[in-house]
Amino acid sequence: MNRTVLHVPLLLIALMALVACSATGTGNPAASSADVRPFGATADGTAASLFVLRNDRGTEAHLTDFGATLVSLHVADRDGERADVVLGFDDVSGYESDANQYFGSTVGRVANRVARGRFTLDGRTYQLATNNDPNHLHGGDRGYSHRMWRAEPHPDLASVTFQLTSEDGDEGYPGRVEATVTYTLTDADELIVEYRATADQPTPVNLTHHSYFNLAGAGSASVLDHELQVFADLYTPADGTLIPTGAVEPVTGTPLDFRAPEVIGARIGELDDTSALGYDHNYAVRAEALEGGAEAVMAAGPVAVLRDPGSGRTLELFSDQPGLQFYSGNFLKGATGKGGEVYAHRSACCLETQGYPNAINEPSFPSVLLVPGEEYRQFTVHRFHAE
Ligand code: GLA
Repeated sequence: MNRTVLHVPLLLIALMALVACSATGTGNPAASSADVRPFGATADGTAASLFVLRNDRGTEAHLTDFGATLVSLHVADRDGERADVVLGFDDVSGYESDANQYFGSTVGRVANRVARGRFTLDGRTYQLATNNDPNHLHGGDRGYSHRMWRAEPHPDLASVTFQLTSEDGDEGYPGRVEATVTYTLTDADELIVEYRATADQPTPVNLTHHSYFNLAGAGSASVLDHELQVFADLYTPADGTLIPTGAVEPVTGTPLDFRAPEVIGARIGELDDTSALGYDHNYAVRAEALEGGAEAVMAAGPVAVLRDPGSGRTLELFSDQPGLQFYSGNFLKGATGKGGEVYAHRSACCLETQGYPNAINEPSFPSVLLVPGEEYRQFTVHRFHAE
């Protein structure tokens, strides 16, 4: 069977959907060509590529096929000065190394934690890797973030689609999953991330994008001076191993209340002695995923806004997902990244749009189960401007 022939229609559908999405509520995709550069080779000798997307303002997003990863994102400040606002590495070897804490990657088959790496479907129990003792984290020992995806650049659209086949039994999960993630840079300085997946057996699917942002520039000492606003009244409290208890509780009166913009560092000290070691919490943005595609997502308004007062760079995040994991880089510990920059403790933060952690074991949470005949879809927009 010729796999290339099989996937051409898939990619065409993704591209058509992308154009349709972009015409309904977001900026037009940039009409510049995506150039492709070498990005080193993996330990097994597979060549990796870097796809450079550029819009008419000069904003650039660099992506690699290893982990369908955002490597860098060059965004202007209030004076037009550009900085790279995401953490990453200079070539693929960094992404394969232990220093890679999912920097910029596409995480799956199930992002965040599955309690004790175990779940039961149709009477059968599946045991996954417990790579975050005692739980399963971010898809296991070698999840989607650590795999080579097949790339299909869309040269005239500043857009690239990555495709991955995750076989039945991959990391212990049931069923074969075909996944795509498409990144598009628009002339309105929006980086759109659109995911699709199908499965040939019921299986949990919960993908996310794991960029670490510092809007003053990757390598800046701290993200604690950034202002954050999260449009959520509720969150999911977790146990000592960061597995939700099943409760959904108000943020009122807790350091998690970011309904009004607040500096990240203002109350983080109250969380120092918790098992999260800072912010590492799932906001229940909504009770179910939002239907209606790009138009509905943009009309609903941002789920979060991150702003660096120093540079004025501001990120508005739009998503159709029920959950938003806010992680304040508590496990960063001085890895050396792009250009020799050192990534210190809490020097960047992640805003991961996804289903709730451990949803496969928590019937009261929005379902992350994908069944044959249905399609998993997720749409997230990162919109940048400077104030
Ligand atoms: C997520 C998790 C964190 C941590 C990071 C990766 O954000 O919630 O606990 O595992 O990924 O280091």
